[in-house]
Amino acid sequence: MGNQKLEKISSDMLLSGMYLDSDLYYIVDENPVLLCHGTVIDATILDRLRDIAKQDVEIFVGEGTYQKLLKQHEYVSKLNGQIAKRYNETREVMSEFIRETSYTNQINQESMVRLVSMTRNAVDIMQPYFLLQLGSYMSDMDELLQTHSVDVAILNGMIGRWLGLGDDRIEKLISIGLLHDIGKLRIPDHILNKPGRLTKEEFEVVKLHAVYSYEMLVRSGVTDEEILTGVRNHHERITGTGYPDGLMLNEIPYFAKITAISDIYDAMISKRVYKESATPLKILDSFYRDQFSDLDPRIVNLFLEQMIRELNGKLVILSNGDVGKITYIEKMRIAYPLVDVDGTIIQTGPNCHVVSVCGEIV
Ligand SMILES: [Fe+2]
Ligand SMILES: [Fe+2]
Repeated sequence: MGNQKLEKISSDMLLSGMYLDSDLYYIVDENPVLLCHGTVIDATILDRLRDIAKQDVEIFVGEGTYQKLLKQHEYVSKLNGQIAKRYNETREVMSEFIRETSYTNQINQESMVRLVSMTRNAVDIMQPYFLLQLGSYMSDMDELLQTHSVDVAILNGMIGRWLGLGDDRIEKLISIGLLHDIGKLRIPDHILNKPGRLTKEEFEVVKLHAVYSYEMLVRSGVTDEEILTGVRNHHERITGTGYPDGLMLNEIPYFAKITAISDIYDAMISKRVYKESATPLKILDSFYRDQFSDLDPRIVNLFLEQMIRELNGKLVILSNGDVGKITYIEKMRIAYPLVDVDGTIIQTGPNCHVVSVCGEIV
């Protein structure tokens, strides 16, 4: 700590999506203990802070950081409340649905209708900025399946809306998102949640989930062909290298192709190991750089254009802790937009980049 002046902060001040540009300490027996280095605040850090707060321990940051956090808090707090509430409600209902399904081994159509309409509402009411920093709302305690299913359903719903589809088809896309991985309930836990790399044999077992999801729908009386194939074929790739059926570009059902994009986007933005690098901007940038050239380029293009449109004007936090607003994103340089910080336009780059996308000023 040297001579650096520290200031006490209340743990309530830190919210998901905020960015610490210096270390965070707590004091034990008059000695500072490092809690974390500068980072985007996410649910895992908030869980740890809550534990520490129970022990009546004080936390500290550097003086300059404190001022920046104050400003970030002002913007982020308004957004977090509404967004997190709606999101968590939907995830809770999804958890219940998963519990019920794993018990009965059948999809309860009534619960499904309720869940679809709830998700539908989430798509309509929540501004798409919610999707921009999905990972920061998740906690280690969350079961991956419920969160991922809701996320993919919302993304699917958004893409459906961008495509100008009718209500009934948007609802189908949402159903596919909610159910696409439900077959994972049949994959043994020790494989599904294995911390390290899967062996070839284990991966073959995991791959079965697409057919398992499909079979569960059939068994439960779902007959809609678009929903059935959307679920079954969400891991197909246009090059024919996907599974379970190895379909090529024109053979893959439209809704399966859309779900593949939502699925990959969500997997990337939720992955903790990427954390710092997994801002929406960087992920979209990698979509643009054709790293997913086995997805339908027309849908990827629409997805990129719409996401860029949504990101324009959004509130972001920079790697120096400043808060600003995106004013321009060039498609060739999605990762480094122009950002307005208190009236000064900054060209972001590797040295000063966006670390968190919070939303818009409300
Ligand atoms: Fe899947
Ligand atoms: Fe998935």
